[in-house]
Amino acid sequence: MKERLEQIKTEAMEVLKGLNSLEQLEEFRVKVLGKKGELTLVLREMGRLPKEERPVVGQLANEIRTTLENALNAKRTELEEAALAKRLEEETIDVTVPGKKPAMGKLHPLTQVLYELEDIFLGMGFDVAEGPEVEWDKYNFEYLNIPKNHPARDTQDTFYINDNILLRTHTSPVQIRTMLKQKPPIKIICPGRVYRSDAVDATHSPIFHQIEGLVVDRNITMGDLKGVLDVFAKQVFGPQTQTRFRPHHFPFTEPSAEVDVSCSICHGEGCRICSYTGWIEILGAGMVHPKVLEYCGINPEEYSGFAFGMGLDRITNLKYGIDDIRLLFENDIRFLKQF
Ligand code: DAH
Repeated sequence: MKERLEQIKTEAMEVLKGLNSLEQLEEFRVKVLGKKGELTLVLREMGRLPKEERPVVGQLANEIRTTLENALNAKRTELEEAALAKRLEEETIDVTVPGKKPAMGKLHPLTQVLYELEDIFLGMGFDVAEGPEVEWDKYNFEYLNIPKNHPARDTQDTFYINDNILLRTHTSPVQIRTMLKQKPPIKIICPGRVYRSDAVDATHSPIFHQIEGLVVDRNITMGDLKGVLDVFAKQVFGPQTQTRFRPHHFPFTEPSAEVDVSCSICHGEGCRICSYTGWIEILGAGMVHPKVLEYCGINPEEYSGFAFGMGLDRITNLKYGIDDIRLLFENDIRFLKQF
């Protein structure tokens, strides 16, 4: 029996040396030391030994078990360390590998240009005022000196919620709302989304964006309007930009003008963008009509003001050379990525 025990030990030690995975090691432990393992099976037969030999064999068996357990543990540690070393080796992080760029979102070109224009006017002391897109008819038209049945309504046909409520056709009602609740001096710009029932094509969209401006104070003149718009045009389109005022008519301003800037593409030579005129129309403007001031409770004898309104979409297209307004609303990522 002693020989068998010694044999188990010798064989086990031999096999152990050749093991090279933790799974094999565990299998081996069960096979030799487990409840049904070789060593246990031999010890079960101890009963058959003469009484005096049992303690000796028992002690030997225990020694062998301890020896094997120690060897097994040592092997386990060795294999675990090797496995860890291997993982560390495989999972080494090379800090010099260039990073992966995360996909960054960015601002829509309209928002970029809006922020740029806001900055220019904030720099000239304007505040930003906002108002609702669903507006009272009276603020969108009547207080702006466009009574019901006035032909000017035809050019700004829109979507009516009912007889008195509509989707605003311009941001001018924000001027009205501001004058109704604030005494002069007033110096605001009103950016926002506006609506007209226009059919969609390269230059029309039923939804577009405006920025309007309003200044009301004592002694405001058309010279102030020209000065502000000139500074504005030079900042947006470059320092060489000229402005030109052409007489026009708006019900809410008197006198009224349409304002052109010299073409930033051809610098006045004439090109496709400016239809070979050298000038590009960018906004409407004028001195606030005395009736409008009166409707809003401001005395036109004491105060005067100027106002202007421009299309943000048009300015954006001009700045970036975009030739179709629909691109601004389709949200095609390949288009938007370019800005
Ligand atoms: N409200 C006009 C439009 O939408 C633009 C405009 C012209 C606004 C002259 C003004 C202005 O404030 O003074 O067509």
